[in-house]
Amino acid sequence: MKQPIIIDTDPGIDDAAAISIALNHPNFDLKMITTVNGNVGIEKTTANALKLKQFFNSNVPVHRGASQPLLSEIVDASDVHGESGMEGYIFPEIAESDLASTHAVEAMKNALLNSDAPITLVPIGPLTNIALLLTTYPEVKTYVKEIVLMGGSASRGNVTPLAEFNIYCDPEAAQIVFNSGLPLTMVGLDVARSSSLTHDTINELQSINDTGNMLHQLFKHYRGDDFEKGINVYDAYTILYLLHPENFAVQEADVQIETNGKLTKGATVTDFKSHFPNTSVVLSVQANIFKQMFIDALQYCK
Ligand code: RIB
Ligand code: CA
Repeated sequence: MKQPIIIDTDPGIDDAAAISIALNHPNFDLKMITTVNGNVGIEKTTANALKLKQFFNSNVPVHRGASQPLLSEIVDASDVHGESGMEGYIFPEIAESDLASTHAVEAMKNALLNSDAPITLVPIGPLTNIALLLTTYPEVKTYVKEIVLMGGSASRGNVTPLAEFNIYCDPEAAQIVFNSGLPLTMVGLDVARSSSLTHDTINELQSINDTGNMLHQLFKHYRGDDFEKGINVYDAYTILYLLHPENFAVQEADVQIETNGKLTKGATVTDFKSHFPNTSVVLSVQANIFKQMFIDALQYCK
């Protein structure tokens, strides 16, 4: 049975890996790709989503979303993903006409209210669009199966010692989403750090197929943390978790978002001892199993 999903994204090199699998794997019914300001500005994240749509000759619609956080100043991660947000591979020029005309939040609302089955939301960027959706149209909650998001950390951050980038970009949006009452799975920094792809594996990708070569070229330009040890393809873990949840260690916790602290803004304060957990926290997966899942999933791509 195909899983109906919506990906909300800020491509982004690791987003490209997640989107490639979601667009092509037979277990997913990807309803749409919605874009958000994050790694780079909304124009570039949207252009990058359209580049991937075109690369796979996909008819999945791309809808542009929020161009800035709810309250915070815009920050970006072009130092990690390059100026374009997907540095390293030359994609053909895109046709602006490929962009769907409806705003991301409207498009998600319409899809949810008209779906014949509950849809899983898969945010892999800042949570601005998701927060706007849930506050503007709270009636959609009935039609959301769960939220499986890339964000946060139960340990060290990657933007500050405590904060992960997606949460740090829009902590107010994250607080809304984590307190929405919806089933929520946090695929944070922890699980990727337990199973980084080695540089040897990155080199192996090149000969798998066109997608492996594209990702190989992008990963070579990805300057995520601990680059020397390997590549943390953070966003891909959400999609592979949806395919094989049995392979991941998960623990329930209450997760609250620090929105004010000078040194702590964007921290996901994770209480595994809470009697009132609101989140399933994905903590680890064996590195060799992750590698195999990733490579197996790429077999469905061109
Ligand atoms: O902290 C990692 C997250 O921030 C990933 O989603 C990456 O694409 C960036 O958005
Ligand atoms: Ca991302």
